[in-house]
Amino acid sequence: MTEKLLSIHELTKSIGSITPVKGISFDLKRGGCTALLGPNGAGKTTTLRMLAGLIPPTRGEIKHGSADKQTNDWRHRIGYLPQYPKFYSWMSGKEYLSFSAKLSGLSGQKALQRSQEVIEMVGLQQASKRRISGYSGGMKQRLGIAQALVHEPELIMLDEPVSALDPIGRREVMDLLNRLRGEVTILFSTHVLHDAEEICDDMVLMVDGEIAEKGALSELRTKYRQPVLSIEVEPGERELAWLHGLSKRSFVQEAEVGKHRAKLTVTDMGAARAALIKELADNGIELLRFEAGTSSLEDMFMKVVGP
Ligand SMILES: Nc1ncnc2c1ncn2[C@@H]1O[C@H](COP(=O)(O)OP(=O)(O)OP(=O)(O)O)[C@@H](O)[C@H]1O
Ligand SMILES: [Mg+2]
Repeated sequence: MTEKLLSIHELTKSIGSITPVKGISFDLKRGGCTALLGPNGAGKTTTLRMLAGLIPPTRGEIKHGSADKQTNDWRHRIGYLPQYPKFYSWMSGKEYLSFSAKLSGLSGQKALQRSQEVIEMVGLQQASKRRISGYSGGMKQRLGIAQALVHEPELIMLDEPVSALDPIGRREVMDLLNRLRGEVTILFSTHVLHDAEEICDDMVLMVDGEIAEKGALSELRTKYRQPVLSIEVEPGERELAWLHGLSKRSFVQEAEVGKHRAKLTVTDMGAARAALIKELADNGIELLRFEAGTSSLEDMFMKVVGP
């Protein structure tokens, strides 16, 4: 069985009259990569800030596998990259990293050695002596990840590490995260399902302070792979009435009906196809499109996150 590195239970944060995080529970596997997915305002940053020990939870429990037994402190075991990192832009990348390493408690020699190691790890060795003010967005974000790694934490938490980047910066950071997979446990937040699918094994989907779905991506893909029929008809009264009656069929699990189209999630594609084609012919419905396919995780995501 995979060891749990972090276990959170009923974690809640209230700020004044609002509750951005409403009793969420999930585990992180040691060595795994988990995406904390959710739209703007879902509560991702608030959750990560609680896990990083920057703000106290209002309620709930955070259990860290290797917390100090006496103080229950795990902060030295984690690295954190905030959503909007700030750098001392007059420093060089290398100076900034050894400064961060010393702040994390590493001694002078060790701080220098680790700074050199992480700067190579994130591919900034060529730029290590240049001032941060001249770095691109992607380079700054990689420097931020290096800062999160410098004290050799077992878990790094990155708050939307690619959201503010152009496609090139985005690719650089995604490639770096792919290389770090397995070496360190990763929790990163994003509002893009595709990013989660590219590098993670697990995801936690947050909407409005609550967990809408969570689990292994491979299992969730299977769970949400359901037969779907898309139908489009000519505009007309008879056609419209027929479309609106579709949701009552026994094989229809879910129906989204528009003006002249319908999207049906069905239990049995064979039965649905046969029955509907017969109905179309019997009722003289003018058909434009009849397409059989499958729903995906993306469909579920859009449904949960969408307006
Ligand atoms: N200190 C605060 N005071 C008031 N409201 C807050 C505070 N912190 C968070 N919130 C509110 O809580 C909700 C969740 O915010 P949070 O920043 O955690 O979301 P998020 O998922 O990180 O969003 P984004 O994708 O925009 O970064 C938002 O509605 C936000 O306005
Ligand atoms: Mg945020």
